[in-house]
Amino acid sequence: MRQAGRYLKEYRDIRQKVGFLELCKNTDLAAEVSLQPLRILGVDAVIFFSDILIPVEAMGVGVELTDKGPEIANPIRAARDVDALRIPDPATEVPFVGSIIKKLRQELRDEVPLIGFAGAPWTLASYMVEGGGSKSFAEIKSLAYREPRVLHALLDKLASTISSYLLFEIEAGAQVVQLFDTWAGELNRSDYEEFALPYTQKIFEAIGSRVPRILYLNGCATLLESMATSGADVISIDWRISMAEARKRLGDRVAIQGNLDPCTLLGPRERIETRTKEILEQAGPVGHILNLGHGILPQTPVESARAFIECAKTYGRG
Ligand code: CP3
Repeated sequence: MRQAGRYLKEYRDIRQKVGFLELCKNTDLAAEVSLQPLRILGVDAVIFFSDILIPVEAMGVGVELTDKGPEIANPIRAARDVDALRIPDPATEVPFVGSIIKKLRQELRDEVPLIGFAGAPWTLASYMVEGGGSKSFAEIKSLAYREPRVLHALLDKLASTISSYLLFEIEAGAQVVQLFDTWAGELNRSDYEEFALPYTQKIFEAIGSRVPRILYLNGCATLLESMATSGADVISIDWRISMAEARKRLGDRVAIQGNLDPCTLLGPRERIETRTKEILEQAGPVGHILNLGHGILPQTPVESARAFIECAKTYGRG
C-alpha cells in the first residue's frame, strides 16, 4: 500500500516536474514511479501507481490533490447530486489505467506479481460527501442517519463503478486486487454491516475467482469477523491489533496481510527487526503477506524501509 511516494528522492524528482493527477495519467511516468520501490527496495510485488480518487473524477466530480490531501470541489450532499453522477466506462474514461498496467506487465515479465487496487464505496463516499479528509466524519454519518436512501444510492453507484473499474484492471493484467476501505474503521459493527460491507460484497462477487481479492480497513480490530464475510481471500489489517489476535479470530479461513506500524520505520533498525520477526512468528508459515499496517510516511528514511524488506527476506521464508 502506497509503496511509491515522497519518501523516495526519485519520486520527488519526478513530482517536481508534474502534478500528482498528471502523474497518475501519464503512462510512462506512472509506470516508472511504480517500479521505483522494486528497484530501490526489492519488494516482492508491485502496486501500479494511481490513487483511489481517479474513478471518482471519472464519475464527474472535481478532484484535486493538495498538500492538505484530497479536495472535492462540490461535495455530494443531496439526491440530485447523486443522480448527476455517471457510472464511467473505464475503457473510454480512464484508458491510462489500462495502459499503465499493460506496460508494467511487459516490463515485469512475470518476475513479480502486479497488484491492482481501488477504494471501497464507503471510503470513496466519505471523500465525496465530506469534501476531503475528515476527523469526525460528521457529514457522511449525518447523511447516513438522516437520509439513508440518498447515501445508499451513492454507495450503490460507487459499487457499480468500482466493480467495472477493477474488472478493467484485471483485464489489463492486474494479478491480484486490493480494495481499500480505509475509513470504514470509523463505523460500529451495525453501521459497517449496513453502509460498507454489502457494497464490498457486491464488488468481490462481481470479480469472482478471477484473481485473489484483498480487503484493507484502517482500524479493523472491531470489525474483523464482519470483514471475513466480505468474500475477500486476504484480510489486510492495520497495526493496532496484534497478528496473533487477528489469526486467532480469523482462523485459517483467509490469509492475512500486515501489519508493521509505519512509524516503526522512524525508529532504529533493531526495533524494526524485533517487530518484524514478531509479526512473522505470530502469523505462522503460510497464508501471510507481510507489509505495513498503513501507508509509508513521507519522512521515512529509505534505509529503514530497506531494513524492513531485508528482515522479511531473511526471516520470512521457511
Ligand atoms: O505506487 C503506489 O505505491 C500506489 C500508490 C497509492 C497512492 N494512493 C498514491 C498517492 C495508493 C495505493 C493510494 C491509495 C489511497 N489514496 C488510499 C487508500 C490507502 C490508504 O492510504 O489508506 C487513500 C485513503 C487515498 C487518498 C489520498 N491520496 C490521500 C489521503 C492522499 C494524501 C496523502 C499524503 O500523504 O499527502 C493522497 C495523495 C497520494 N496518493 C500520494 C501518493 C504517492 C502523495 C501525493 C504527492 O504529493 O505526491
